[in-house]
Amino acid sequence: MDEFALHAAFAVASPGGQNLGACDLHVWAVPLTGDPEQLGAHLSKAENQRLSRFHFADHRRRYQIGHGALRAILAGYLGCGPADVEFASGPRGKPYLAGPGPHFNLSHSGKLALIGVANFEVGIDLEKVRRLDSLTEIARKHFSASEFAALDALHGDARELAFYRCWTRKEAYIKAVGEGLSMPLDIFDVSLDEQPRFLAIRDGKEDAARWSLQDVSPAADFVAAAAMRQHGVRVQRHRLAGS
Ligand SMILES: CC(C)(COP(=O)(O)OP(=O)(O)OC[C@H]1O[C@@H](n2cnc3c(N)ncnc32)[C@H](O)[C@@H]1OP(=O)(O)O)[C@@H](O)C(=O)NCCC(=O)NCCS
Repeated sequence: MDEFALHAAFAVASPGGQNLGACDLHVWAVPLTGDPEQLGAHLSKAENQRLSRFHFADHRRRYQIGHGALRAILAGYLGCGPADVEFASGPRGKPYLAGPGPHFNLSHSGKLALIGVANFEVGIDLEKVRRLDSLTEIARKHFSASEFAALDALHGDARELAFYRCWTRKEAYIKAVGEGLSMPLDIFDVSLDEQPRFLAIRDGKEDAARWSLQDVSPAADFVAAAAMRQHGVRVQRHRLAGS
């Protein structure tokens, strides 16, 4: 039984042998269910230390599968073993490869992870859609004035979908630049409709015209976005074999 009923575009693929061109974004979906033994065996000492701090077995399983899968996928591009992949992190914690290799970003929500891999800086955000009583308050607090106005004109399911689109597009951008929560969320505007795009960036550093967004939602009840300082991006969607 396929618990996630991933969209058909997420075809089963194995790491290794993937050709990652200059404009390619590869998005890997990884269900965080099943036996974590095999993928968990790839984790480093530091990752195992982090693992030991999770209180719940299910959170441990998700971490083992998600981070083991990240290693397996990146090893396929690097031509090394999963346990040999070495990570470093940016000033606000964004993980990178320690040596030469592609950029990547990981996001997880519920029992699913998405991993984006590209030859340019990328941020990925995945959210499982759930009914939020505080949707309007969250949007008022985190969205820019024009984003909130666009949301507030909508009702019912359209309002919920627009909320998640806006949320994941904004989060994908702050993950692409690696800033995390240190970045004010109202200094850039994204679209809320079916055409993902940046409308403005007012941080004095980035130019909205150089950035692009892609909808990489993997299943009916998940919304996901990828943000890139790159145009003409060709997206290939994969589901990790055996997951
Ligand atoms: C890490 C952060 C950037 C994203 O967290 P999140 O949405 O809870 O979690 P995600 O699953 O999407 O991403 C987590 C992964 O991103 C990566 N990551 C960590 N720090 C990062 C950073 N500074 N930049 C980019 N990626 C980062 C890691 O791989 C991490 O996985 P791990 O925790 O298993 O190691 C978080 O600090 C953050 O800023 N959250 C913003 C929450 C918010 O209020 N958003 C409002 C949007 S409108």
